[in-house]
Amino acid sequence: MARHFLTLGELQADEAHAIVQRAIKLKHEHDLSYRPLVGRTLAMIFAKSSTRTRVSFEVGMAKLGGHALMLTTAQTQLGREEAVADTAKVLSRMCDAIMIRNDSQADQEELARHSRVPVINGLSERHHPCQLLADMQTWFEHAGDPAGKTAAWIGDGNNVCTSWIEAARLFGFKLRISTPAPYRPTTGDLALGGDAASLVESPAAAATGADVIVTDCWTSMGREAEQAQRIRALTPFQVNAALMQRAQPKALFMHCLPAHRGEETTADVIDGPQSVVWDEAENRLWAQMALLEFLLL
Ligand code: CP
Ligand code: NVA
Repeated sequence: MARHFLTLGELQADEAHAIVQRAIKLKHEHDLSYRPLVGRTLAMIFAKSSTRTRVSFEVGMAKLGGHALMLTTAQTQLGREEAVADTAKVLSRMCDAIMIRNDSQADQEELARHSRVPVINGLSERHHPCQLLADMQTWFEHAGDPAGKTAAWIGDGNNVCTSWIEAARLFGFKLRISTPAPYRPTTGDLALGGDAASLVESPAAAATGADVIVTDCWTSMGREAEQAQRIRALTPFQVNAALMQRAQPKALFMHCLPAHRGEETTADVIDGPQSVVWDEAENRLWAQMALLEFLLL
């Protein structure tokens, strides 16, 4: 049976560490003569917009000698209600892996159940596991092993937050989550972190002494109708210079991007010296190349 990657938490801790260490090695040592995926194709299904996920998977497949196929929902029969299960059966007869970005973790699980080849979650409404491989790579590169350290998630308790909760358990750091009550992760999602993740009411308390401050947009794709009320509720949770000053002097600022300067963070923070967001973005490429090796070789 194919191995899938639908959530970060389905990896064992040693597997997650191995993928991240392999990503760091690939970044420094990859050369274009290394082409283990010649003749292999990744189908990429996008029901939502993407810059980083699309480009990093397509470039990553090319660097490994393979090929990626961009499939929007609208341009395929999925957009005309062909069953997810039937789509999985057809794509997995012709392709070697499937990446999907949509608004339904349940449909991703259905796709995986009917696929002969690995299915990768390129973001759902509940998880963004590929992002966390890149984020953990970035943390290792800038500040060493996250184990025993503390990160503060400030803002919307969204899909990326849930993958951070799973990362805290796998990589052995504490995650303090500060979000307005309506936008907290569910109790079930919080429990995915075991005792590594906890809710902290005030953003100032969550940030105090933290080694990493991380946030994301306040209005995720598909939640646009709630934008005005989200801005009202989340404004006290902005990551600005005053909040950064509560963290460790060398704390990293992380954000999966795309960012909205003046909302979840200020320009001086995201464009400032503690920000590692461009490395996070680049590391999507190396981390997913390591993931493709893990799933396909
Ligand atoms: N961080 C991230 O997944 O970016 P894209 O939406 O551009 O893929
Ligand atoms: N939480 C954001 C992440 C985008 C990469 C969203 O789901 O839109």
